[in-house]
Amino acid sequence: MCGIIGVVGKTSVQERLIASLKRLEYRGYDSAGIAGFVDGKVERRRAKGKIRALEDVLADQPLNATVGIGHTRWATHGAPSAPNAHPHTQGRVTLVHNGIIENYAELRERLRAQGRTFESETDTEVIAALLDSELAGGAEPLAALKATLDQLVGAYALGVLVDGFPSLIMGARRGSPLVVGYGDGEMFIGSDALAVGPFTSRVCYLDEGDYVAIDHDGARIFDQAGKPAKRAIRTVPASAALVEKGNYRHFMEKEIHDQPEGCQHTITAYVDTLNARTAIPGGVDFASLARIQIVACGTSYIAGMLGKYMIEQLADLPVDVEIASEFRYRQPALQSDSLVVAMSQSGETADTLAALRYCQAKGMRSAAVVNAQESTMAREVDVVWPIHCGPEIGVASTKAFTAQICVLTAVAVAAARARGKIDEAEEQRLVRVLLEAPRLVAESIKLEDAVQRVATEVAKARDVLYLGRGPMFPLSLEGALKLKEISYIHAEGYAAGELKHGPIALVDDKTPIVILAPFDSYFEKSASNMNEVMARGGQVIFITDADGEKHAPKGARVVVTAPRCDPLIAPLVYSPPIQLLAYHVAVQKGADVDQPRNLAKSVTVE
Ligand code: AGP
Repeated sequence: MCGIIGVVGKTSVQERLIASLKRLEYRGYDSAGIAGFVDGKVERRRAKGKIRALEDVLADQPLNATVGIGHTRWATHGAPSAPNAHPHTQGRVTLVHNGIIENYAELRERLRAQGRTFESETDTEVIAALLDSELAGGAEPLAALKATLDQLVGAYALGVLVDGFPSLIMGARRGSPLVVGYGDGEMFIGSDALAVGPFTSRVCYLDEGDYVAIDHDGARIFDQAGKPAKRAIRTVPASAALVEKGNYRHFMEKEIHDQPEGCQHTITAYVDTLNARTAIPGGVDFASLARIQIVACGTSYIAGMLGKYMIEQLADLPVDVEIASEFRYRQPALQSDSLVVAMSQSGETADTLAALRYCQAKGMRSAAVVNAQESTMAREVDVVWPIHCGPEIGVASTKAFTAQICVLTAVAVAAARARGKIDEAEEQRLVRVLLEAPRLVAESIKLEDAVQRVATEVAKARDVLYLGRGPMFPLSLEGALKLKEISYIHAEGYAAGELKHGPIALVDDKTPIVILAPFDSYFEKSASNMNEVMARGGQVIFITDADGEKHAPKGARVVVTAPRCDPLIAPLVYSPPIQLLAYHVAVQKGADVDQPRNLAKSVTVE
């Protein structure tokens, strides 16, 4: 993920910007830059590569500024290079950005038609040009910023300088976090508390859609409707900032809310955003593979199941998914011209590691989808497919799960293209759909209030049933796993088509039944399952989209309406509601959400 820092200081900011960027290195980056007001005019210093390269530039050309911004860039649009490094300048505007602007191409065409030229390939420069156009139209900086934000589709965290306003930094956030730091006569913005930790421990976390102006007198915060907003100022000791919960009560809650950024950062490591093509690291030749064998445990196993659905459907490439603890002992028949893929957040799960080694011993090429990139699995496989969601602290996996799904979705599209099942145009369409996922996951997380109301009912239940068809079946398993592992309520996920083969005997008026059903090709069948359940007094919690709500049978106890989305990314969009349901039930039951009883974050023993 990119890192952002801004300092409205009383003394030179160059060293402080660099110090902060170094604290953001853990987020991963490939270029860096800073900018600030020098004698009232904004100057930039940028370099490809690590911060050391930027320091070399500054040794020759120091930035003598007391107000400035800085950025570490994880390339999304445009290769790692100095011209593509942030900050970007257009006219009077210089800014840094973390996120993906989905409609940047059409905005850029519109701006080019107005005579604008661009020095970079980035979506970020388009934001700067848009904002400069608004200023040129006579708007004041904050009004110009609001008018710009209203035209953007996608995720962003921004830090903005405007020529002529040498004591002002503006910021904004949607889908990517941004904090405001309160110093003594100095003010700061940063990607997280860690970024501003060296300067202050008093921070406030902007809400989704907020934008802000900071100067030596403090911060003026506005909500996405443009109304002045008050955000709580919290004290975050610098040490705690290393892995901090921010405004959240639990790491799990924060990690659910971090998913748009984790998905964005992961997706952009597997696609060429400029050309809307897949770009899977590791050079696996999907055309020559006989099959893929996925081995994993728990939530990672469920992510693997979703991978099977997508890869087989799109690429017509056989995929087996197996629980590692079973696989490793049953002497499975394997084909050496296959690829084994170990799915593991920690990269240390003993059963998954053993299953991986079993396959390697049979001569199979190996890959690992892991979050911990220094882990044993990452070191032992031929190909690492990392997820980029940052450290996951909560024992119940959430952001790693959706990041794993992002990887497998990109792999499915790439395999389909490699095996000639889709043409370039369809690949580009699917990649563009995948690039919408971070924004739609952010929209889905906004269902939290509706889900929290449902949690009150579910918290009283003894048993809960989750039902789904197609990719919503693995998601039903995940919803049940989340609920049982953190709230200790027994829950089961079932293929909805299996209802009549046994589970329907469980249905009574005390058993909440969560049915996951986007308005897709499975919807009609899910709707009839819903009728079967309600006819027996079942209390249905129906999670669907606006079309599904229109066509659903009447009588559901609750309907939660998720954002409409392409079926390709439905597993990503339908994950937050089931995660939030488990979370709020556990909170209402007073359970230890981040460290549930009997569980460990990584099961490194059999
Ligand atoms: C998921 O919420 C659980 N904490 C657990 O099932 C976990 O997914 C499983 O232990 C696998 O862990 P890994 O991804 O680190 O291999």
